[in-house]
Amino acid sequence: MDPTFWHARWQQGQIGFHRQDYHPKLERWWPQLELPPGARVLAPLCGKSLDLRYLAGRGHEVIGCELSPLAAEAFFAEAGLAPERSAAGKSERWSAQGISILVGDFFDLQASDTGPLQAFYDRAALVALPSALRRDYATRLATLMPAGTAGLLLALDYPDGALEGPPFSVDTAEVHDILGPNFTVESVQRNAAADVPAQLRAPGASTMYESVYRLTRR
Ligand SMILES: C[S@@+](CC[C@H](N)C(=O)[O-])C[C@H]1O[C@@H](n2cnc3c(N)ncnc32)[C@H](O)[C@@H]1O
Repeated sequence: MDPTFWHARWQQGQIGFHRQDYHPKLERWWPQLELPPGARVLAPLCGKSLDLRYLAGRGHEVIGCELSPLAAEAFFAEAGLAPERSAAGKSERWSAQGISILVGDFFDLQASDTGPLQAFYDRAALVALPSALRRDYATRLATLMPAGTAGLLLALDYPDGALEGPPFSVDTAEVHDILGPNFTVESVQRNAAADVPAQLRAPGASTMYESVYRLTRR
């Protein structure tokens, strides 16, 4: 998926992935990471997710990364916040009230842009990327996350060919394959996804599963 695909999605308002609530699996599993309130959390490919607000509400400093300035603009406007903007490497940092969005390409992100990180949260980030980019994503994440840090990954899987994607199907074997070299991967939940794309809602269509993984950087 090249950046123009995502810029067009935001320009055309085709953001079916966006939820109007905190993700229930974030609320269910995040507290179990037992992070101190001040822990700094990276949210790759964050869109304008309300989950950033959930994390900030738990006392975290949140660092999102998002290609689209329209998404960042919408996030802060909908939160009633006026962000300050500054340069951060190849990205631009938009910040207000403990939430920063680094507007730029995740693959360009450096530890000097994010500052020290203690945790990460991936919902609809890894599964937004085609297979050719997913290993690079895992490598970049491992580069940014110091040893001992933890994170939650929410991934989706469905039978081959059921959907063109994104979201792409990323099953447990692939999660272990691409993240296992640098992270300890623990599966904590897998169930039929509640919000599935329209193409999979037809009678007799295949089920999409949503899994939660707890990852610890080794
Ligand atoms: C499927 S959406 C998920 C957004 C968010 N995580 C959520 O749960 O609503 C994927 C987002 O990643 C952004 N994106 C795609 N490629 C990116 C990249 N290389 N760097 C930063 N953001 C990217 C897109 O603009 C889009 O907003």
